[in-house]
Amino acid sequence: MANVTFSSPVMPRDITVYAVAGDRGNLLALAKSHHIPIPFDCQDGECGSCLVDVEHLANSVRCGIALTEKEKELLKQMGKITKAEIMDAEVNDMPPRHRLACQCFVRDEDIFVTFEGDLTLP
Ligand code: FES
Repeated sequence: MANVTFSSPVMPRDITVYAVAGDRGNLLALAKSHHIPIPFDCQDGECGSCLVDVEHLANSVRCGIALTEKEKELLKQMGKITKAEIMDAEVNDMPPRHRLACQCFVRDEDIFVTFEGDLTLP
């Protein structure tokens, strides 16, 4: 069971949802199913709209990640991933701080997700 807490200036309060094993997709799908307003467009790792900051709450070993070339490239273009983070992801399978919600799969670990959101939306 993973607790995923979403936080954003566009939300009146933080919301924690429980991602049940076997029912996990990517972070964007989880957010959408709980009406969490993470902005998105392409849903395919192309536009960068769904940029989020992911904090891993457990001090234990983090779950391995699959950072796709597509996500890595876009984060690089957006200036949201450092060379050291790329190296850590490639060599140690460690997740970088910023992720694309549509490319980030929910694992069996508690995470805290923040995003800017769009304050112009109702
Ligand atoms: Fe476009 Fe995630 S929605 S990169």
